[in-house]
Amino acid sequence: MDFNIYITRVNAKLDQYLSAQGSLAKAMRYSTLTSGKRFRPILTYCVANIFSTNLNLVDSSSCAVEFIHAYSLIHDDLPVMDDDDMRHNQPSCHKRFGEAQAILAGDGLQALAFEVLVNDDLISADIKIELLKFLTRASFEMAEGQAIDLSIIAKQVDIATLESMHRKKTGALLSCAVNLGAIISKKCNNEDRIILDVFSKDIGLAYQIQDDVFDIEVPDALLGKNQYSDECKNKPTYPSLLGLDKSKLTYKNLYKKASDELDLLSVDATELQQLTVNLQARLF
Ligand code: IPE
Ligand code: IPE
Ligand code: MG
Ligand code: MG
Ligand code: MG
Repeated sequence: MDFNIYITRVNAKLDQYLSAQGSLAKAMRYSTLTSGKRFRPILTYCVANIFSTNLNLVDSSSCAVEFIHAYSLIHDDLPVMDDDDMRHNQPSCHKRFGEAQAILAGDGLQALAFEVLVNDDLISADIKIELLKFLTRASFEMAEGQAIDLSIIAKQVDIATLESMHRKKTGALLSCAVNLGAIISKKCNNEDRIILDVFSKDIGLAYQIQDDVFDIEVPDALLGKNQYSDECKNKPTYPSLLGLDKSKLTYKNLYKKASDELDLLSVDATELQQLTVNLQARLF
């Protein structure tokens, strides 16, 4: 299965959507187009594809999710947040363009995410509203999760607090990527929607636990960002609470559960199964 088709597709669309954004374009393009694994848009395309949905209908949703993600990373790296000076193997947005421009590039990308969906003439008004409902909720939850993340620095928290924070700051947007693909797909029935929602929440949590593990185990050059960022800031993470082995087991079990859930779908989900394998097998 070649997921590069989706990467090429979303890169072209992102480039297109970012081509006419005037003075903020440089910083927005720098942070969005240079790199990134694109797992969120791939998820949206992949879900739609297993229901044989025309991918022209999916482009705006895939890009919208990636724009929110790109904005979240720019703000996440700011000195008042994680204070990280490297992202995607290049200086973070604020290091390259200054803090004010970085904040504004994030603001611009967030607005652009909603604009591309609103302006998509291929999608009917009722579907559009449903997509927007999910995207607005996920964006809000991401911000809320980030607020919790910063409020518990150097504090003793239990695993339930950490899980809830991870589900918000990272899980919500990954879940949204899956749900948007489901909403656009006419052949995706209500039962399928429920199954995919459960699947999406499991991979969403797994993805951030894995990111916490990478912070300890993967060197800067491969990670593309600063290793030990969490530890340096005394952030509570899955490994700091449970240790590395238990953290790895936790995310592996979540991916396994997610993968099993896909067997219940009314369509052949082999492609999405493979993508779940790839999520777990990612090296950074
Ligand atoms: C990084 O996400 C931040 C998290 C929410 C874990 P990704 O690892 O998906 O970011 P990309 O691939 O660099 O865009
Ligand atoms: C990021 O979590 C979650 C976001 C919503 C951006 P992290 O702070 O762990 O992400 P990285 O490690 O900087 O990519
Ligand atoms: Mg952070
Ligand atoms: Mg960070
Ligand atoms: Mg991290």
